[in-house]
Amino acid sequence: MNTSIRQIHPVFVGEVSRIDIARPLSPEEVAAIEAGMDRYAVLVFRDQQITDEQQMAFSRNFGRLEDARGGNITRPEDKRLQVGMNDVSNLGKDGRPLDRASRERAFNLGNMLWHSDSSFRAIPAKYSLLSARVVNPKGGNTEFADMRAAYDTLDADTKALIEDLVCEHSLMYSRGALGMSDFTEEERAMFRPVRQRLVRTHPVTGRKSLYLASHAGGIVDMPVAEARILLRDLTEHATQPGFVYAHTWRPWDLIIWDNRQMMHRVRRFDESQPRDMRRTTVAGDAPTVAQVQAA
Ligand SMILES: [Fe+2]
Repeated sequence: MNTSIRQIHPVFVGEVSRIDIARPLSPEEVAAIEAGMDRYAVLVFRDQQITDEQQMAFSRNFGRLEDARGGNITRPEDKRLQVGMNDVSNLGKDGRPLDRASRERAFNLGNMLWHSDSSFRAIPAKYSLLSARVVNPKGGNTEFADMRAAYDTLDADTKALIEDLVCEHSLMYSRGALGMSDFTEEERAMFRPVRQRLVRTHPVTGRKSLYLASHAGGIVDMPVAEARILLRDLTEHATQPGFVYAHTWRPWDLIIWDNRQMMHRVRRFDESQPRDMRRTTVAGDAPTVAQVQAA
């Protein structure tokens, strides 16, 4: 097959055609996708009917799968999907939409804030791969923001100001912004903040990008209020409409994005109806900055 990629947004995002990701890929196909990711940072694949096993096998072409532990408040015995799959649906283990008042649902609403997957881990994620199994009847678009374009268009003073800044990321910051503060001792330990550079350089292309997420709640050696204003300003700049692609899902769409150069968020949808989205996550290979050892 002659896989081809067509850019579908003025700044980024490619749509891949003539490929079947349900079967093993050739080295040439894997290389074409990697090169497409380096260039477009988001790739859309249409009409890919896959099982969870096929999604995991496809994902492993790009690295090892991330260990999902520590990424949410759902207990292992309450999980709907097997290890290796991240459940980003609105469904409980019984297959029904989560109760409106449930803590899990409140936690999941955090996906509607701009973020980069796993920026709350010391070694943050490389790619995320999201497969649409059941599309919600109303809303539920996923939006992507190009953090390379965001960096490129900063003024020189701002670039100089932020070049060496280090942020503190935690799920407690993003959920705290939604009014969630009832974390257990165990969760507080699991969600302990990690450090991330604010400016990242892509290992292949050398392009710089802003590394932001709603998980970022502080900047090292900066008063909290000042840090949060700066993060908010940068996020507003980074998510201006010209840098954003909104994807309207069809069943069996699969999207790969590079968390090192993108932010994303889900938009509101009808939570009384299912939205079954399944994610695999390819682990990153190094921290962005040295971590502080726990006392
Ligand atoms: Fe996400």
